[in-house]
Amino acid sequence: TGTVALIPAAGMGTRLGEDQPKAFVDLGGTTILERSVDSALRSSVFSRVIVVVPEDMVEHARELVPEAEVVAGGAERSDSVRAGLAVIGAAERVLIHDAARALTPPDLFVRVDDELRNGATAVVPVLPVVDTLKRVDTVDHEVIETVDRAKLRAVQTPQGFTHTALQLAHAESGDATDDAGLVEALGSRVQTVHGDQYAFKITTAFDLRIARLLLADEAT
Ligand code: C5P
Repeated sequence: TGTVALIPAAGMGTRLGEDQPKAFVDLGGTTILERSVDSALRSSVFSRVIVVVPEDMVEHARELVPEAEVVAGGAERSDSVRAGLAVIGAAERVLIHDAARALTPPDLFVRVDDELRNGATAVVPVLPVVDTLKRVDTVDHEVIETVDRAKLRAVQTPQGFTHTALQLAHAESGDATDDAGLVEALGSRVQTVHGDQYAFKITTAFDLRIARLLLADEAT
């Protein structure tokens, strides 16, 4: 019952260029996985936290985050999300959160959960797009047009759903780059809330450097 956190952390992090799966990379004393679980717990939103890790990291993850339930993930993010969904059982709401967004403040979990409690079916945190955006021809690299960014938003996690909507969306096993995309495909409304710059996803070596610098700065 209540709200369950589902944290996919089973990615290899190939784009990061570290020698271990991304969630197990150190951020200055604690791993990306520990940071994400800690932030989720500090929000006081969740009755349970489920993390999904690479199969050979399950035992190690249980030691790192004893407060969480740990299950093995799959090849694609959506496989990992489904592995987590399979163990949820009874729940009213589910927030799916990339472990890679390790600096996400507890407030953001609260904001997304509140919107669900107020009746939304699906909720995503978003930020305005700061750069100018252009559509390009990917073959000859020429600009086709400038896109109006005023109506565009960059989407983060945690993404929140009623358990029912999420189960329906993943039963369809359609193709989408995020979970809200699957819910949209079923014709459900997806609400937005203000995201947070600290909820950025650690994807590249540059992002990892930024994350470490921010944490070192906070510690001083
Ligand atoms: O690779 P990327 O950072 O976009 O992945 C987003 C999140 O999904 C990460 O926290 C990653 O660990 C997770 N993931 C997963 N299983 C996969 C691929 C990614 O749990 N097969």
